[in-house]
Amino acid sequence: MKPINIGLLGIGTVGSGTFAVLKRNREEIARRAGREIVIKIIADRDLEKARCLAGDGIVVTDNVYEVIEHPDIDIVVELIGGLTIARELILKAIAQGKHVVTANKALLASYGTEIFAAAHEKGVMVAFEAAVAGGIPIIKALREGLTANRLEWIAGIINGTANFILSEMREKGLPFETVLDQAKQLGYAEADPAYDIEGIDAAHKITIMAAIAFGIPVQFDKAYIEGITKLTREDIRYAEELGYRIKLLGITKRVSSGIELRVHPTLIPVRRLIANVEGVMNAIVVKGDAVGTTLYYGAGAGAEPTASSVIADLVDVTRMHTADPMHRVPSLSFQPDLLSDTPVISMD
Ligand code: NDP
Ligand code: HSE
Repeated sequence: MKPINIGLLGIGTVGSGTFAVLKRNREEIARRAGREIVIKIIADRDLEKARCLAGDGIVVTDNVYEVIEHPDIDIVVELIGGLTIARELILKAIAQGKHVVTANKALLASYGTEIFAAAHEKGVMVAFEAAVAGGIPIIKALREGLTANRLEWIAGIINGTANFILSEMREKGLPFETVLDQAKQLGYAEADPAYDIEGIDAAHKITIMAAIAFGIPVQFDKAYIEGITKLTREDIRYAEELGYRIKLLGITKRVSSGIELRVHPTLIPVRRLIANVEGVMNAIVVKGDAVGTTLYYGAGAGAEPTASSVIADLVDVTRMHTADPMHRVPSLSFQPDLLSDTPVISMD
């Protein structure tokens, strides 16, 4: 079957992680998608960076519109970020009949309704697993795994940078600014790190999760937002002495008057699992009426964990895009010709 062609917008932290994982796991990803996923064109304003990464046969450009207008591109992967050009590019890609994969929670939390309506009208997919909690497949869990439930609430550590800062301040006594600089260097922080430390990024994510969980439009403007900038090492130490950890939580829940959306530092008893989630890790607790309480844990930011979610979306979109219904479902052991010949080892 002919490969599916993708165009990559932005080859920064997540773009380069996506490039690396697609290359390293090419065969397995192709097997799972039902056909090969090929990067045809990369656009970034830093041409040198893009050229260094791209191999033979990949077009490199600093003209982002070239990706959108490329006649052979089936899926546009938007990893530029921000609210301005990314919105225009995604809407243009949809108008051209191309599917979109994006990690841009800021954009979806503010313009999701417009973007999804445009995609619906054009009959294309907009996939965004990487927009919430990096490598944790929480969108899939909310939309598919928990679909039988009336969801009651979601609460989680959903900003890796903020959690990294709080952890390093507590464990190593490091100053706020020092740890923030480390988070920037490690590729965890947003282009504008105020989004991380002021709770804005977490509010984008809880807004998106609330829309899925409760079937409401994305309403970022309704969220109450308080970040971690006012917290001191003393606050963290006093909390510890009293048996608590301070965590920046995103919370959404049904209350009698509607749906609450909020982000703020929260005191959590140390005995709770979520109090012990440290560093860049995220954890999300979801309560459904049938399943009860479920917990999702994993790396909330960083190049390859986020790439893991971007590529999961690429595989999903590829399967759905493929005309042959056989390929619309994940290929597992029911297709012996596709199985790996790695032997199963006998256990004594
Ligand atoms: P980066 O800043 O590392 O990468 C973005 C890339 O796009 C950079 O190379 C940037 O160039 C380039 N770029 C920006 N504007 C333009 C433009 N107008 N034309 C061409 N190229 C442009 O960001 P990340 O990879 O960290 O994030 C990308 C997206 O993924 C964002 O939406 C972010 O919120 C999201 N995300 C990030 C995660 C992470 O761990 N980093 C995790 C989950 C989601 P330059 O460097 O010159 O600005
Ligand atoms: N800046 C974000 C974070 C990236 O630290 O969680 C992942 O969305």
